[in-house]
Amino acid sequence: MTAARPWPLGVEGIAYGGDYNPEQWPREVRLEDIELMREAGVNLLSVAIFSWAMLEPREGEYDFAWLDEVMDNLADAGIKVALATATASPPPWLTRRHPEILPVTEDGTVLSQGGRQAYAVSAPLLRQYATKMTRVMAERYGDHPALALWHVDNELGCHVPHDYSDHAAAAFRRWLEARYETIEALNEAWGTAFWSQRYDSFEEIFPPRVAPTYANPSQQLDFARYSSDELLTHYRALRDVLREVTPHIPATTNFMLSSATKWMDYFSWSKDVDLVANDHYLIAADPRGQIELAFAADLSRGVAGGDPWLIMEHSTSAVNWQPRNRTKGRGEMLRNSLSHVARGADGVMFFQWRQSKAGAEKFHSAMVPHGGRDTDVWRGTVGLGRALESLAEVRGSRVLNRVALVMDYPSWWGSELDSHPTQALRYSEEMLRWYTALWDLGIGVDIVSTSTDLTGYELVIAPTLYTVSAPEAERLAEAARAGAQVVITFFSGIVDENDHIHLGGYPGAFRDLLGVRTEEFYALQEHEILHLDDGTAADMWSEKTHLEGAEAVRTWADGPLHGWPAVTRHVVGEEGGAAWYVAARPAADGLETLVEEIASAAGVEPAVPGLHRDVEAVRRFAEDGTTYLFVLNHSDRDQVVQVSGQELLRGTEADGAHTVPAGAVAVIRES
Ligand code: GAL
Repeated sequence: MTAARPWPLGVEGIAYGGDYNPEQWPREVRLEDIELMREAGVNLLSVAIFSWAMLEPREGEYDFAWLDEVMDNLADAGIKVALATATASPPPWLTRRHPEILPVTEDGTVLSQGGRQAYAVSAPLLRQYATKMTRVMAERYGDHPALALWHVDNELGCHVPHDYSDHAAAAFRRWLEARYETIEALNEAWGTAFWSQRYDSFEEIFPPRVAPTYANPSQQLDFARYSSDELLTHYRALRDVLREVTPHIPATTNFMLSSATKWMDYFSWSKDVDLVANDHYLIAADPRGQIELAFAADLSRGVAGGDPWLIMEHSTSAVNWQPRNRTKGRGEMLRNSLSHVARGADGVMFFQWRQSKAGAEKFHSAMVPHGGRDTDVWRGTVGLGRALESLAEVRGSRVLNRVALVMDYPSWWGSELDSHPTQALRYSEEMLRWYTALWDLGIGVDIVSTSTDLTGYELVIAPTLYTVSAPEAERLAEAARAGAQVVITFFSGIVDENDHIHLGGYPGAFRDLLGVRTEEFYALQEHEILHLDDGTAADMWSEKTHLEGAEAVRTWADGPLHGWPAVTRHVVGEEGGAAWYVAARPAADGLETLVEEIASAAGVEPAVPGLHRDVEAVRRFAEDGTTYLFVLNHSDRDQVVQVSGQELLRGTEADGAHTVPAGAVAVIRES
């Protein structure tokens, strides 16, 4: 199948490599790098991400000799380059001469140079210098045979998702004028009749800087939208230079799709990147981190609209930036990598190629560790290269699911605002809880935005979809009318896009679809547990819900709402569809039983039935009808899988009962 999106030029099979920072090493090490890269089967590297100060040591004076040599040597070795715009960390001469490009925090602190990403994307001078550097790079390397892809800046918004500088204030005002046109419209949208907040002109508006108490929530929501848009605007400015100078080279930037990255609405960035590239790191404290990894991978595919994508950074072993960093166990790096591939990645890359000797990231693992070749990490690097070579034919095949999880960044921002019924709610935790229940049942899921047509899905789950416009709510209703089981959970459909309540009872936007009406929320205290009538526990939330067409599936078994509905079901349309309301936050066991019940009503089944819950099974479908079954055994016992075909990693036949040893992976071309 030919990918709908462009791919790094000249990269055959599955892309393999990582960030390469040759400026940190002398020539002899760089020559050894080429040998090692060949040994590992590397075919793609991200180069020059943080090279600005080395390439332009003084304003207007360039030193390209070292990068020319690196690019030439890589080209000779047949290794392709995702070349960066080199703009991710402005050189000290720039911030010294123009400190006004430095970003400012909510409380007015100016962030200094000396780390990285010390820039305000809205500062006109930063934009000017960064687009100039981008042009210099494009003009110098645009025709270089190693160039396969442009890597714009790096993880835009990673350290400074919000800038509160005066540049940001000016850009925020322009953004608001474009959105509202008149100050009257803004006053209406922000509900400024409250607390004497009425504005007489756009000039009076600031970013929501530290204030005596809660800033206007509509303003906070718009500032989140503006901040995501402003980072994207900066990306576009650099990308447009590249398109002008090198229209034949695809361009992207590395996203940070995960349950931890809240502030960039990547669904709205998707169309601006030629291919979706993601960076993902395991959370060391999470004993089942493979689930959050799978969530991030499914989200990456969702943002890519189902097209192949690239895992552009992950780690071979421990990282350096968590409170206690964890070394990966035996086989874990291979499992992590192939979990991304199973979920649609056609390339696997790492931060970074060679572990740094100096600097803040010297304790971060890499493909070539400090200890050199006689290490588990290096053997893993070579082993992964072999594995990816044997999976070349998988490239371009797709993941197809009948279940959708609806994810919405404005709902993430909105549901976690201050001055709410509870401060305990974490949107991404709610997403992950439902995702985990599906994972434990072995059911594959697409993670989609609120603008996706949902009518092809059998089961649609929208956890805490707090901020909802009428057309967005309508898409969920359409899915139910088309025959899907649609699940909506507590604190959904509460406000419109301006954070104004949908009046008449909660969950306003979904009341008719769900056939319920809630009159009041009963948020629970920390450690307070209630029970449902199936005997399972629930925490954090309850609400007084009237049935208005729906039936109760679970009721509260104790507490002030004893006997009131906690989970409801409302038959919708003639196609067997139903809308379920989960007005509670059931504990994991109760949630899993509920999901099982709803999945069975939807007729949805696991990719492979009967597997241990720590065994991941995912299928990719090729256009010619070939299917590839990925089985990743995260458990400590062998797993027998009923499957027949060719096992690609070992080149053996799978004939019926196929054993996937503890910790191992099998990829079977099914017959
Ligand atoms: C990413 C970043 C890389 C490196 C990595 C370490 O956020 O893009 O440059 O710092 O983290 O995990």
